[in-house]
Amino acid sequence: MKMTRTEIEQRVSALAPWFHNLDLDGVATAPDHFLGDYPRSKWKHFAASIPADLSGKSVLDIGCNAGFYSLEMKRRGAARVLGIDFDDAYLDQARFAAEVAELDIAFEKLSVYDVAGLGERFDLVLFMGVLYHLRHPLLALDLIREHVVGDLMVFQSMQRGSRHVAEVKDNHNFWNTALFEEPGFPRLHFIEHRYADDPTNWWVPNRACVEAMLRSSGFTIVGHPEDEVYLCRAAGAPAGEGAVYPARGNGHGAAR
Ligand SMILES: C[S@@+](CC[C@H](N)C(=O)[O-])C[C@H]1O[C@@H](n2cnc3c(N)ncnc32)[C@H](O)[C@@H]1O
Repeated sequence: MKMTRTEIEQRVSALAPWFHNLDLDGVATAPDHFLGDYPRSKWKHFAASIPADLSGKSVLDIGCNAGFYSLEMKRRGAARVLGIDFDDAYLDQARFAAEVAELDIAFEKLSVYDVAGLGERFDLVLFMGVLYHLRHPLLALDLIREHVVGDLMVFQSMQRGSRHVAEVKDNHNFWNTALFEEPGFPRLHFIEHRYADDPTNWWVPNRACVEAMLRSSGFTIVGHPEDEVYLCRAAGAPAGEGAVYPARGNGHGAAR
């Protein structure tokens, strides 16, 4: 039986606070979001770049939060949608949202660092808004590439700093220190305490760094439909085979 508006409002308020502003049968879950109607306001800029028909496809939504993107993928007909997050409060919201929307979506408590345990590759992997919340962002990208991306990954990260992307060279001379002052050089800003009042914002990349990290983890960037959003395909093994067998240096970093 369908829930009444009052029942939905009561559950929405019991499950608060919400990060995703969902429309649950006319009830908005986060109408006062500091980013506006989020993430719908972002989604509308790249919705057209993802296949409109996902019939028969499997989707993994990593860091699904209240499930905005999982719901949208299921609405596009995906055969299987799995949303994972390590926060029970968000998973409870996502399960409730799917129930109201009458959509069959699985939600599991799982950290991005444990995706190998899924033992499954997905046609579409969403990795949106999570990278900068991680203490080990490259490890996460390497694991996602290695274990769960079957075809396409939709990636998004907050970015700060220069939007310029410098030409990427294979090597740099040890005495070239000016390089590190160039705005287009990949830069990952470390937040020791808080950014935007959030102690889980650890590493905020500039645009060059986002693109370099994706490539370094074995992805090819095939689309950039929105400032912060990239479409990627798995290309090869991560550079230096990830963290396990790093490419061999010469000990002091001088150019050989
Ligand atoms: C900013 S929200 C992004 C939500 C959604 N993907 C989006 O783009 O709107 C970050 C989400 O990542 C989740 N998260 C953070 N670290 C995680 C981890 N190690 N494993 C799984 N989820 C994580 C948080 O609980 C939160 O729901």
